[in-house]
Formats: sequence, structure tokens, C-alpha cells
Amino acid sequence: MTLSDSPITCIAHRGGGKAVNLIENTLAAIEYSLELGVTTIEIDVWSIQGKLLAIHDRRLGRILPGDENIMNFSVSELIELASQIGVQVPTLEEVIGVIGDRAELNIEIKGPNCAHTVANVIEAMTVEHQLPYDQFLVSSFDHHQIHTLMNINPYIRRGVLVEGVPLDLAQCCEPLKAYFLGSSLDFVRQGMIDDCHRRGSKFWVFTVNHIDDMRHLCAMGVDGMFTDYPERLMNLLEFHQE
Ligand code: G3P
Ligand code: MG
Repeated sequence: MTLSDSPITCIAHRGGGKAVNLIENTLAAIEYSLELGVTTIEIDVWSIQGKLLAIHDRRLGRILPGDENIMNFSVSELIELASQIGVQVPTLEEVIGVIGDRAELNIEIKGPNCAHTVANVIEAMTVEHQLPYDQFLVSSFDHHQIHTLMNINPYIRRGVLVEGVPLDLAQCCEPLKAYFLGSSLDFVRQGMIDDCHRRGSKFWVFTVNHIDDMRHLCAMGVDGMFTDYPERLMNLLEFHQE
């Protein structure tokens, strides 16, 4: 069995690359993970003035200088601000250009619930780049956005993200026919994994960086892990296959 046949999917969280100090959601991080042989890359996407950018935070401050809301900037201003400190904020188009058909792309939609964000993502993936449906997934903590996505194009695989344990466990997967439920590591419990599987969705966990957690989640029967250190999970999965 090769790594790509592994029943557990290794997802390079924010492109991965932390082990070699690469900045999240950059082409360099993505390229590094691709060279490792990662088969799923996750990036965060905001729609700024109708253009899709790979960036995580609502406000400047953690990676880019300042403290303003990123929505107060134009795309070119944000890219320029980043380049002043040697950081690159790629467009979704650039991300797709780097990945090509070397891995599947998980686009996590961030930002306010605007119909145009979902529409822009669908347009980019299915019209502009005509990516096959098995090469990308779209996820969000905002289940309304995933609902909008499903109504516009039911063929796109959907990920539903949660940070907590809802009373009805994985019920939210059903109306959205989710491909995966993405749970925070802090709230993983066996009952939720089992309920998710009963409802026909995969159970993926974020953000799993420690080898002990990786081992534990393997034993619990999760289907995927988002990690900043994909090499750690890949080593573990390869070891398990021998
Ligand atoms: O998509 C899973 C994970 O990326 C969600 O958390 O904050 O890292 O985008 P965050
Ligand atoms: Mg994310």
C-alpha cells in the first residue's frame, strides 16, 4: 500500500511547511508540501473586492504589519504590504497554478457570508480552471455558505467545520451532505466520530501537530488530519503500513 492509498488523509494545514519555517498560505509552503508527497492541501480564502486571496486572519497583526481589518484594503494594497516584508499573499489562481494536478485542494472559505464569495469560488474552480470534482473541496465554519454552495453546485465536495460538540453531534452533515466533518482537536470525542460515520461523512480533525495526538486519533478511527507538519503524519502512516 502506498501513502496515497492510506485510509487516513494527511492534509497540509494552511499549506504546511512549519517544519522549515515557511509562512502559512504561501506558494513556498504549498510547494514544500507537494514535494513531500502530500495529497491534500488546505488554504484559507477571503474574497477581497471579488478577488480570492489565500490569507487566514481577518485583521493584520500576526503575519502582516498593522492592526486593520483586511477588508479595508484593496487586493493590490494587501499584496504590496506583504511584499514590503518579503511575504507573499497568493491569489487562488496562483495557488491552483502551483498545485496543478499534483494534489487536491481544500479551500476553506473565510470572511462574511456573502453570496458572491461562494459564487466566485465556484466560478474559479469549475469555469476558469475547470478542475475535476475529485481535485478540490470547499469547507467553512459558516454552514450557510456551504448550503449556498450546495444549492449552486451540488457536485462540489463539501466540508463542514465545527469547533465544539453540538447536542446533535454530527447531524449538521446530513442536510449539507458533507464529504467531511472537520472537528477541532480540542473537541474530538468517540461518539461524534461514530455518529459522523453513521451519517456517511468522513471525520477530519484540525490542527494536529503532535505525534501523540496523531497516534491517538489513528486509534479512534478518524479519516483525516490537518497538520502544519505533514512530514510527521506521513512518517507515522508509512510506519503503520509496513
Ligand atoms: O480547515 C480546518 C482548519 O483550517 C480550520 O481552522 O483557523 O486554521 O482555518 P483555521
Ligand atoms: Mg483553515
